[in-house]
Amino acid sequence: MRSIPILASLAASALASALPPKVTDTDSTQLPLVIWHGLGDDFEREGLKEVVELAESTNPGTYVHLIRLAEDGNGDRQATFLGNVTEQIAYVCDQLAADPILRTAPAINALGFSQGGQFLRGYIERCNAPPVHNLVTFGSQHNGISEFQSCSLGDWLCSGAEALLRSGRWTNFAQSRVVPAQYFRDPTDMEQYLEYSNFLADINNEREFKNEDYRKNLMSLNRFAMFMFEEDTTVVPKESSFFAEVNGTTGEVTPLHERPIYKEDWLGLRVLDEEGKLDFRTTPGQHMRLTEKVLKKTFEEYFAPLKGEQSTSSPGLVVQRAH
Ligand SMILES: *[C@@H]1O[C@H](CO)[C@@H](O)[C@H](O)[C@H]1NC(C)=O
Ligand SMILES: *[C@@H]1O[C@H](CO)[C@@H](O)[C@H](O)[C@H]1NC(C)=O
Repeated sequence: MRSIPILASLAASALASALPPKVTDTDSTQLPLVIWHGLGDDFEREGLKEVVELAESTNPGTYVHLIRLAEDGNGDRQATFLGNVTEQIAYVCDQLAADPILRTAPAINALGFSQGGQFLRGYIERCNAPPVHNLVTFGSQHNGISEFQSCSLGDWLCSGAEALLRSGRWTNFAQSRVVPAQYFRDPTDMEQYLEYSNFLADINNEREFKNEDYRKNLMSLNRFAMFMFEEDTTVVPKESSFFAEVNGTTGEVTPLHERPIYKEDWLGLRVLDEEGKLDFRTTPGQHMRLTEKVLKKTFEEYFAPLKGEQSTSSPGLVVQRAH
């Protein structure tokens, strides 16, 4: 019996000398990560599981939560096409606020794929409890779409949504039920957009009344990184990923910093940019063709553990410490 503690202490000292010095937990905080997937995807997809594994292996100790709008994959996929985005965001606000780990974390990181990116921005602007530290979006439609994506053959859900979108995108029916209709934005048709858009016109503060909370919440981000896929033909226009506007006739691109949303700073994007917190990044390939290498680099850059000094330099984040 007496030999056990000796063996144990020998083993412990042998281990201690073999391992590099460790940063203790009081000096670094690994924030949880929430992921909102894109149109036509669901939380049970193999690809998403791989993303979760990569997030965990890149930054060990990361608690990952995949946002879901239904309890099963089919229902979750259906909700990417059909539903009222206002209600979906409210549902996600409740979901994150109820999660025992997320709601006790000092903050969370957020990763949005395609439409999940602008929806996470909606979460930040409208709720932000728990608050988001860093937001990363891949191929998101921050300035909307002026064309609906073409559906693959036999995808009745996608085709049905597309038909609804074409037949009456500004009807109450489409704006309350067809998800992509709620971020449809054609620069030649601004009048109807401003009047009827159920989601994007509001979340982008494009109407006369500007919601100051939206601006305040978005400005509280530590970093906001927007990735655009260089060869993206699914998102029309692809520059929407950077909040740019494209003239559909001439193809002329008006970048974010030349637009009133930035110049008059309706969303706090200008402040974020001036503080060096707004990142415009491109990545090669078609829409959502992400390599493990790009993802890993992104996770290292944006979702790494917070060091003591970082957490004090971030005004949006309060790390609770014992007195
Ligand atoms: C979407 O849901 C919200 C909240 O229930 C509601 O106020 C709004 O009228 C709905 N939108 C449409 C276009 O029906
Ligand atoms: C697109 O460019 C053309 C040519 O400059 C211009 O006449 C038109 O008004 C522009 N469209 C929009 C929506 O700004």
